[in-house]
Amino acid sequence: MTEQVCYPQVKNIGLRGIPVADTRISVVDGVQGELQYRGFSIEDLAGQATFEEVVYLLFYGKLPSGSQLDFFSNQLRAARALAPEILEILAGRPVTAGPMDVLQGTVPLLADWDPDLGDASRESFQRQALRLTAQLATVLAAWHRIRKGLKPVSPRDDLGHAANFLYMLSGKEPSEHMARTLDICLVLHADHTFNASTFTARQVASSRAHMYASVAAAIGALSGELHGGANTRVMEMIMEIGSVDKVAEYIKARLDAGERIMGMGHAVYKTIDPRAPILLEMSRELCSQTGDQRLLEITEEVCRVTQAEFRTRKDMDIFPNVDFYSGITYSLMGIEPDLFTPMFAISRVAGWCAHVIEERFAEAQEKPALYRPKAEYIGEYCGDRGCTFTPLEERG
Ligand code: COA
Repeated sequence: MTEQVCYPQVKNIGLRGIPVADTRISVVDGVQGELQYRGFSIEDLAGQATFEEVVYLLFYGKLPSGSQLDFFSNQLRAARALAPEILEILAGRPVTAGPMDVLQGTVPLLADWDPDLGDASRESFQRQALRLTAQLATVLAAWHRIRKGLKPVSPRDDLGHAANFLYMLSGKEPSEHMARTLDICLVLHADHTFNASTFTARQVASSRAHMYASVAAAIGALSGELHGGANTRVMEMIMEIGSVDKVAEYIKARLDAGERIMGMGHAVYKTIDPRAPILLEMSRELCSQTGDQRLLEITEEVCRVTQAEFRTRKDMDIFPNVDFYSGITYSLMGIEPDLFTPMFAISRVAGWCAHVIEERFAEAQEKPALYRPKAEYIGEYCGDRGCTFTPLEERG
């Protein structure tokens, strides 16, 4: 064996802070703790806009007028139903299949039924984006019922996106408050610049793969526990802890073992994630309605203890991210933990689609033709500097 040749390693592993393309879709200020979609603050959008308005904003770059929103919402409603063949395929999957895997696996099937698939115009991509955004929610609700041994519930065209999703999930029309709570959650999760899944979607799109290929890949990226998967893991942690008095011991043990506290910290925000306080407020409101504060008290204690431990151990601040309070919000809405990350996906699909459109149709000077980063090779070399090939029969 020859001696390993070592070269300087990459200083900026993971592309932290490295701009790779221009975007007009959203911006994060990690120092000030600000998020804007197309120039509108997340606080204004969460406080005053519906998910449908936000989807329109992401796709078309401006807020819709009343008539534009009516037209767009009607198109979304009309696109909700799935082909019966897709429901049959879902019914044939083992009930143990994870909802994220099912979502990822069903997106290419949606492509099979999209009449625009072969058309690479911007208008076609916008229509595909609309169908994907409408149908991903239907896929999730249908799969959830199928795995529970229940019949999928057909979408209703007299309900908004959030209310219809809750209706398809449970078969019951949700209260206005529940529907608006989910609507706000969908607004908060709809986009977040070049996070891992969005970058994945754009990278796939840059090879001129189609919209559905890009979104299926993005769902895979979102499923990981360091990305969207964190919200489910937060809830598992809260349930495992079980009571406020056990929080300190649990967090210290996790940190001692070099493990991560899910829902805490962020690759970009070095202050509080602006979506977290909005979710916290909604969970407080839900708690005051149910009268059960236990889960929220544990969650808040996890945040307090983690922050205190980080100050002591690392002399640094750490803050909750969007996933820290989304799990508790969904839980208080009666939603099962393994649906939290898929519910992130049924919102973020709008952002992925907007980014795919931007990637494919941005002016040439605003985007790379094809993402092709470089890795520093630190392995062995052939020839004089390294390995010499030995035929199989001569190897020991
Ligand atoms: N638990 C324990 N330690 C954490 C942590 C967490 N949640 N988040 C960051 N750290 C540690 C890092 O390991 C690093 O330690 P080191 O200096 O000893 O190497 C230090 O704190 C600084 O980390 P930072 O550079 O701020 O974060 P990052 O960019 O490495 O990681 C995340 C960002 C999101 C991957 C990370 O915070 C994390 O794993 N969070 C939990 C998963 C999660 O909630 N994901 C959803 C994100 S929206």
